Amino acid sequence: MTDTTHHAAGHAADEEFDADDPRMTRFDLVREGARRDGVEIVHYEPRFPVPGTRREKRIVRSLALMFLLVGLFATAFVVIYIAWPWHYSISNDNAKWFTPILGLTLGLSLALLGVAMITWGKKLLPEEIAVQDRHDGPSDSTEAKLTGQTILNMGDELGLKRRPVLGLAALAGLAPLGAVAAAPIIGGLIKDPHTTGPKLADGQKSSILTTTGWTPTEANPGPIALTREDGTKIRPEDVSVGGQMTVFPGIPGGASNEYADSPTLLIHLRDDDAAALEATLINENKGPVEGFNWKNYVAYSKICTHAGCPASLYEQQTNILLCPCHQSQFKITNNARPIFGPATRRLPMLPLALDPEGFFVAGIVQKDGSIVPSGYTVPVGPGFWERSDKIS
Ligand code: FES
Repeated sequence: MTDTTHHAAGHAADEEFDADDPRMTRFDLVREGARRDGVEIVHYEPRFPVPGTRREKRIVRSLALMFLLVGLFATAFVVIYIAWPWHYSISNDNAKWFTPILGLTLGLSLALLGVAMITWGKKLLPEEIAVQDRHDGPSDSTEAKLTGQTILNMGDELGLKRRPVLGLAALAGLAPLGAVAAAPIIGGLIKDPHTTGPKLADGQKSSILTTTGWTPTEANPGPIALTREDGTKIRPEDVSVGGQMTVFPGIPGGASNEYADSPTLLIHLRDDDAAALEATLINENKGPVEGFNWKNYVAYSKICTHAGCPASLYEQQTNILLCPCHQSQFKITNNARPIFGPATRRLPMLPLALDPEGFFVAGIVQKDGSIVPSGYTVPVGPGFWERSDKIS
């Protein structure tokens, strides 16, 4: 048929067709609506012409069960999100299950939802084969009505009216899934990260976002020693010239995941590199007397300021520290300034001092020679919404 004859035939059919004719069934309207949209329904067959068969009931029951499980796992996600301890500590290592269980419950909920939707489509919805042409321009009021009836018909085909159990089960499953979507947003408003840090040495509350294992607290007032993974302290001569060592805060659990934000790279610079660092030290990395470096030694946070990977590939000849995740590079002799890659903030410098026994500690040397315990003076790791230090 040419395009002209197709339109002529279509107009003739429009004139004969009365959408308000009470003898029309809904499916007549649906078929006509589809036809006017260039969709020909060539095969249409309900899966269960006789409703209420045993097979249909069995499918409805298993679908209802799936939706209830969707809701159950989604509810478990919300409960675990709120109630499970999330902050790992050596005294309570249940926190290591927090993220895996969240992933498991949400994964099962979404997977079951997917299986339920596919099962519904394949086992309950009528079998239909339709061939569709495209058309241009807006629809007139009759077509709008036909489309409305088509949508209502689709609702009927879902069979929720005659399968109320399935409707209720789907609702019971999907409502908690909605709560899952809202939980991270609402949870972030309920839990205040600025009150969840350790109690500081002066008794003040602190923020989990701005403290690390190096921060002097009521429990560990400091000065906190730089230690190896096994807890042994470090003297300057333990790191050779041009060498580096990963150090941890010398507090209980300091090298464990409880202080995963605390690993630090202690570097022994050559004389000319140390002089280059001294010449470029920014105020952020200076105490009242000297810089946060100690002689030729400097210590930077290992937590990449891009996305928190360990930035620990140290290129000794060029004094560049490379983060393997996305190739950010930090210039060690210039306050760990990012010079390449996605990171936009410097790696924070840990103030270094020597205690009377000659071991490295984290602290700021005062004019009278005393050491004031101090952790990092700016937050480590990636930026967050209230972080105020500037890139320089
Ligand atoms: Fe270091 Fe992305 S986490 S570059």
